[in-house]
Amino acid sequence: MDILISEDIRGKSIDSLREHYDVGVFTDLWKQPAELSRLVGNGVKALIVRNQTKVNSSILDNAASLKVIGRAGVGYDNIDVESANRKGIVVCYTPDGNTVSTAELTLSLMLALLRKIPNADIATKSGKWERFKFLGNELSGKTVGILGLGKIGKAVASRLHAFGVQLYAYDKFVQPGEEIVAKLGIELASLEKTLTNSDIISVHLPLTKETRHLLNDNTFKLMKPGSLLINTARGEIVEESSVVKALQENILKGAALDVRVQEPPVVSELEKFENVILTPHVGALTEEAQEKVVSTLVRDVEFVLSGRPALNYVNFPSYRVPG
Ligand code: MLT
Repeated sequence: MDILISEDIRGKSIDSLREHYDVGVFTDLWKQPAELSRLVGNGVKALIVRNQTKVNSSILDNAASLKVIGRAGVGYDNIDVESANRKGIVVCYTPDGNTVSTAELTLSLMLALLRKIPNADIATKSGKWERFKFLGNELSGKTVGILGLGKIGKAVASRLHAFGVQLYAYDKFVQPGEEIVAKLGIELASLEKTLTNSDIISVHLPLTKETRHLLNDNTFKLMKPGSLLINTARGEIVEESSVVKALQENILKGAALDVRVQEPPVVSELEKFENVILTPHVGALTEEAQEKVVSTLVRDVEFVLSGRPALNYVNFPSYRVPG
């Protein structure tokens, strides 16, 4: 097998890979690390994953023929890039394809929380007509704090601008002179100021050592009582036990979490709250995003395998013979 796909990744471009390569698609292989390691060690040149396969050093140490890892998505926290570097393996990813879909899901969750849509739907389908139980709030006029003003954070900000909200953003790497900051009237602020001033907090940071558990008991205390929290980034950025506590103490009036610390999650206290919306990490799961992600990833994987430099890479563009 030349190319191994260890999760459910589909698209026309995957089919076209089969014209030149022996491609193995095993949608549940991410659940079996020992089998994954055995297969990767058996002459595989390219490994294509989404976010569920943990590509760690024990898999890579065994990967004698591997030249490229393709990550179908923007976050590559499931890949041990240092180990890949040591073995000269290129790590490719798709920084753009998911942006619009994730931003649109963020807006959907925000509006669904404000207008209590999931519960109104369940009640109405069960034959009830409880109009005032579902008295909601407008998004217009609210202050929204965006944690992480990268591509997705910016796409969320520009959509929110159309709703007439005031925007704060916490991002250590964005400069006040950036055009979008002035255009959307975003106030770049510290984490503390962003949390203190916002009615709604939306998380769009990558998962790193610095951002793991950024929202915890201490930082939740800084938030306005009655705030809303949306997380479509990574579950580990937010301590789930702190979300439960913040809901119990009415610091949070509601939360919408598309991502969890453990995926699939263990059933927790969160499932019991009516004012919590939980979705199964579907930010990037639209037909449009999948087509964009898969086609650009396949292009780069084919580039590396044929000796040409990848265009979207995390470490280096071409395979390097270790030595
Ligand atoms: C990403 O990192 O691109 C998203 O979380 C989507 C995914 O991993 O499937």
